[in-house]
Amino acid sequence: MKVLVATEKPFAKKAVDGIKEIIEAAGLELVLLEKYTDKAQLLEAVADVEGIIIRSDKVTAEVIAAAKNLKIVVRAGAGYDNVDLAAASERGIVVMNTPGQNSNAVAELALGMMVYMARNQFNAGTGSELQGKTLAIHAYGNVGRLVGLKGKALGMNVIAYDPFITDEAVFERDGVKKMNSVAELYAAADYLSLHIPATAETKGSIGYDLAMSMPKGATLVNTARKEVINEEGLMKAMEEREDLKYITDVAPEAKDAYAEKFGKRYFGTPKKMGAETAEANINAGLAAARQTVGYLKEGITKFQVNK
Ligand code: 3PG
Repeated sequence: MKVLVATEKPFAKKAVDGIKEIIEAAGLELVLLEKYTDKAQLLEAVADVEGIIIRSDKVTAEVIAAAKNLKIVVRAGAGYDNVDLAAASERGIVVMNTPGQNSNAVAELALGMMVYMARNQFNAGTGSELQGKTLAIHAYGNVGRLVGLKGKALGMNVIAYDPFITDEAVFERDGVKKMNSVAELYAAADYLSLHIPATAETKGSIGYDLAMSMPKGATLVNTARKEVINEEGLMKAMEEREDLKYITDVAPEAKDAYAEKFGKRYFGTPKKMGAETAEANINAGLAAARQTVGYLKEGITKFQVNK
């Protein structure tokens, strides 16, 4: 049986070596497709494989249809909005993610970006400190929680909201204040760190009204997905309010317009780099390999997301 690692943005070599070792130790064959530039290359590579390990690579209905022997897709990472779950389920193909494995890398970047913005993007001039500021976490999953804990270590006042966590104790154990609504969260946020997935409900959900409700000088930090932002709405708010800032690891569609209009009030990384650490690559890559083997050899479905 063959397992394809298809990564337009490749893993660190050490991670690839580790994946190979796990796959081969299980008597499976590893096929590697890195830095591909054309969908046709992916369609060709999936033709005869039983398993696929990916990052943000798009596994569409077309890719699934081209993969005649496919049994499992593992997204080495958290968000699986890049996989057509319905098309996979229709063929009985299992889709998994590797929750938590790259969270620390993303959390460190979120805090790093806050410092970068607070210090005028490392340009001359008087900046500000994170200590004493309110850090609002939108969605308290693996990444959100780590951002909160690290923010607390920096002396920030951490508050959070998660529509799926109603148990106050989850927040209390971390010394984080639970807010009761998105509106309450944004209205109190000096720094708003976004950790919501891109779903039908969340796409375009962060826009003009929420941005306008933020306190004076607030910064929106997006290490989640560009799709959750209503780009026009956020742009309008930033045009009306010259104190608002936006920093993102997932560049907007209109990134040039944002850069041109807002100068140092906006920053976007050239390519998503939240999970781009050797450690995160190794954690997520090796977990994906183990999960792939676990399913193909023993039928283990832990972390399946398309039940
Ligand atoms: C994730 O969902 O795990 C992150 O967005 C990382 O994505 P990447 O593997 O494409 O860097």
